Amino acid sequence: MHALLTTPSTTMRTVTPAVADRLLGEIPRFFDGSVETMLRELFQNAFRADAQTVSVTVDSARRTLTIQDDGCGIYDPQLVLTAGATGWENVIEPAGLGLFSLLANNVLKVVIASWREHAKPWRMTLTQEQLRRVPAVIEELPVSAINTASGTLVEITFANVLMVDPVAQMVQRARSLYPFGVVLNLDGQLQEIAPYRSWEPEVTLKVPGIGTLEWTLEKTSAYTEVVWMHQAFCALNFRRALSKIQEENPASKIFDRALRWIVDPQCGVRPKLPDRNDLIEDVQLTQAVQQIANALTEHLLHLAEEHTRTQDALTLDYRFKYALGAPGNWKYYVEDEVDSATLNALQNFPTWLRDPDILAAVLTQLGWVTNERRRYEKYAIYLNDENEVICDEDKRQRIYRSLPAVSSKAVAFTLTQLGRPTHWDPRAEAGRVRIKKLRIHPKSPQVALCESIQVEGIGEMPYLLSEDGFADERDGFELAVQERRGKKGYTYLVSHCPCILFAGTALQFKEWLEKNADWVLNFIAVAQMERDSIWDYDWIGDDELQPARVRRSVLAEIGVFDQKFSQVHQKRADAQDARGLLAEIDSQMAQLVYFAKKPYLRRVLRGVPSLRKQLRALGQNLEPLTKE
Ligand SMILES: Nc1ncnc2c1ncn2[C@@H]1O[C@H](COP(=O)(O)OP(=O)(O)O)[C@@H](O)[C@H]1O
Ligand SMILES: [Mg+2]
Repeated sequence: MHALLTTPSTTMRTVTPAVADRLLGEIPRFFDGSVETMLRELFQNAFRADAQTVSVTVDSARRTLTIQDDGCGIYDPQLVLTAGATGWENVIEPAGLGLFSLLANNVLKVVIASWREHAKPWRMTLTQEQLRRVPAVIEELPVSAINTASGTLVEITFANVLMVDPVAQMVQRARSLYPFGVVLNLDGQLQEIAPYRSWEPEVTLKVPGIGTLEWTLEKTSAYTEVVWMHQAFCALNFRRALSKIQEENPASKIFDRALRWIVDPQCGVRPKLPDRNDLIEDVQLTQAVQQIANALTEHLLHLAEEHTRTQDALTLDYRFKYALGAPGNWKYYVEDEVDSATLNALQNFPTWLRDPDILAAVLTQLGWVTNERRRYEKYAIYLNDENEVICDEDKRQRIYRSLPAVSSKAVAFTLTQLGRPTHWDPRAEAGRVRIKKLRIHPKSPQVALCESIQVEGIGEMPYLLSEDGFADERDGFELAVQERRGKKGYTYLVSHCPCILFAGTALQFKEWLEKNADWVLNFIAVAQMERDSIWDYDWIGDDELQPARVRRSVLAEIGVFDQKFSQVHQKRADAQDARGLLAEIDSQMAQLVYFAKKPYLRRVLRGVPSLRKQLRALGQNLEPLTKE
């Protein structure tokens, strides 16, 4: 230890704690200087003084704001001017600074008058001088000047025009949820100001030792609010503590919505002084927030369970939310897409449970599984203004109490697309995939063929689909592995992993493709998008996907599996090209003929008629081939 700390000493003198002049002058700056903050402090005092009624008077001509209460009256005028001293009993952590907030820069003077039973009424006038320790004069008043047994009046005179419009709203926010009545006199116009809730709750829950929770589906501007002793404020630290919890909570979507916590001080959480518009970030807050998250989640889960007791599956549709605004005919918005079981259930759900995000969040907590079928036939694939390939997806999302599960992602996906909703769970028992005679080739990046696909517990599958190309072990599927081993020494890139494994020959694939072109072609395009290689195929023309081009390139590539098929395809493709070319030549020719009629060009275009004849003959020769 340092010698200075161990050397013996003798006491010389004592010092008394005091507030330095500079700090006294700074105290008004502990507050934000706004009229609303001043009102908040004055309403708080009135509440602590047990007031029943508070009247607020605004006199624009005199630039004054007056607050009068019928509370207990100020006990000792000295308390008003003693920073940190307080006259309240039974108040948790009073700051003893509130009235200093009134001496802001824009305030000329503050007159305080107070009266109590068996005591003389008095008045004092405060100015900025008092911040430099100039004593304030206390004047005694005649008893006839007062009309209630006890009370306090504070009149603030501003240096410039009061810039608070609309005044009534501001007074309402400041009076918050105090249980007393408030009357506003705005330049002679009287108006009662009711307690203020910035939003009304859909769900209210009392949590012993923590307080009351109010929750609503809709986010509001004040979506995380704390009420401490009847005074509501947006507590940033409460929001922050909630966000931390959210990271670990699977039902976190619940806490993205509006939540109001009416604090029970028993929980040990305390507001920040002096202005009490946030909570102190401490272990008490962390613990309380954990309890809040658990209690609310549990409560909503319980309600959800009650409401869905008779349901086995529900459609999740984002439009439910928008349809809610139109009671009576909201069904109209969703009827085409949504099954009647869901519609009937929704009718009896509380509003918050109709929100697809919340519904999915709570039901998955209860063990339900979400399942999504993509409706490729309805996808729109196009280029946006930045020349990026964009896909407007169309998905049908359902949530099921339970679903058969398989361990292969591709099998689950394919079965769902086939209309047999299946859940993918890597831990599931069922679903080992056996592929007979797999044919895979680097020149066929979208399609692989095989003789048959057998899935344990499911049976024979006609094909398997995977947007990301069976490139993952999670597919529970041998293809990706075999491919990497590559018997002939090929090292295939992941992007060369096909997105369709078809059980059948090249010709059968072609027939299947023709029959299902409306969704298969979009599926292939989306899979190529997933690999960022849609450009390789030049499938996009006029800024949107050209299914004919996709079809052609896919058919061309599966030629690697069947030479005869490939030849036929090649001939057909050539014939198609030739026919296109011919049509072009024909139209050019028509123009040439037009020019040929002009005498001054005739010499230049002398050969046109015979060329025309030749071409027509060529076209007739091609005709039978294109019809094949
Ligand atoms: N409206 C009121 N009615 C009765 N007493 C009041 C009122 N306003 C202030 N006081 C007294 O003046 C003291 C100082 O008030 P204030 O500066 O707001 O500090 P705090 O409220 O934190 O104690 C209070 O402790 C209380 O004794
Ligand atoms: Mg106070």
